Amino acid sequence: MILDKKGRRFRNLRVSLTAACNYACTYCVPDRKRLQPARNELSTEELIRGVQYLMQTAGIDRVRITGGEPLLSKKFEPFLKEVMRLPLKDVSLTTNGQFLKDKSAAIIDSGIKRINVSLDTINPLRFRQIARSGDLATVLEGIDCMLDAGILVKINTVPMRTQNGSELLPLLDYCLQRNMEIRFIELMRMGHLNHSNDFQANYMSMETILGIFAQKYEFERTSAPHDSTSVRFEIPGKGVFGIIANESEPFCSACTRLRLSSSGYLYGCLSSGNRHYIADLLDKPAHMALPHLQRLLVKSLADKQDYSFRGEVTVMKFIGG
Ligand code: 5AD
Repeated sequence: MILDKKGRRFRNLRVSLTAACNYACTYCVPDRKRLQPARNELSTEELIRGVQYLMQTAGIDRVRITGGEPLLSKKFEPFLKEVMRLPLKDVSLTTNGQFLKDKSAAIIDSGIKRINVSLDTINPLRFRQIARSGDLATVLEGIDCMLDAGILVKINTVPMRTQNGSELLPLLDYCLQRNMEIRFIELMRMGHLNHSNDFQANYMSMETILGIFAQKYEFERTSAPHDSTSVRFEIPGKGVFGIIANESEPFCSACTRLRLSSSGYLYGCLSSGNRHYIADLLDKPAHMALPHLQRLLVKSLADKQDYSFRGEVTVMKFIGG
């Protein structure tokens, strides 16, 4: 296992199946830029071998399937099936929910226990303005379908003052009614937001978000697991919510994440421009691949920030939040 001087190690791997996405959310895709087709993607076999090699070298024991939008990829079903067979402590999925209903049989049959759905509003018009595509009702049906099957669903919301700033309470209520945990992700200076006034115009701090909820609810801060990125709050008798406070309470010093992009790069940190190519190792036998991988993991771990996220031009879509 590889440790840095702060005692950090990699434990959570996020695997992006594809950089393609059927949405073009305003915080992810700049105005007028549309989607590009996925190219040079790793195959299902390569991705699975990547996970296995990273389990052996880095001690990865949790995997999150991401994208782009992972349910868009033909690799989704075979990858899910294969990854569920590996001796991991946890497998989860992050999706925009548009195809959840279509793919529900594969998801339920796989035995996966929990998923995260990105949802920034429950207002259908606003939904189209933010995602610039998709259909809210279909997403909500997909969520209900997962809940009915007994799968734990968490909702991820990115609060943006000018876009869904007035939607945060309705979203919280929607989740409380369904017993789902919602996590509000403080807007990050990623991609085009790194050098744009859009960030300042839209960023809402944890304090601001809590101020909105305080208008309706009383809540208290509760403890969260050690390497969790979210600050959790309990509304007694009603449920819990979390805030991923990248800016307000940075969590870099406890970060255990590693990302594998669909094009075969390792990213040790969202706030670093560095990435490390491993695709050429994934068709090699372990005795040849692992020593090299080990060296790249040391570099990836050194890419982590000491204290806080600083912003980066890396686009989330390519590596999966
Ligand atoms: N800031 C905060 N969250 C973001 N996401 C994508 N881009 C950003 C950003 N700039 C979130 C998505 C999704 C998760 C994978 O990452 O909303 O929930």
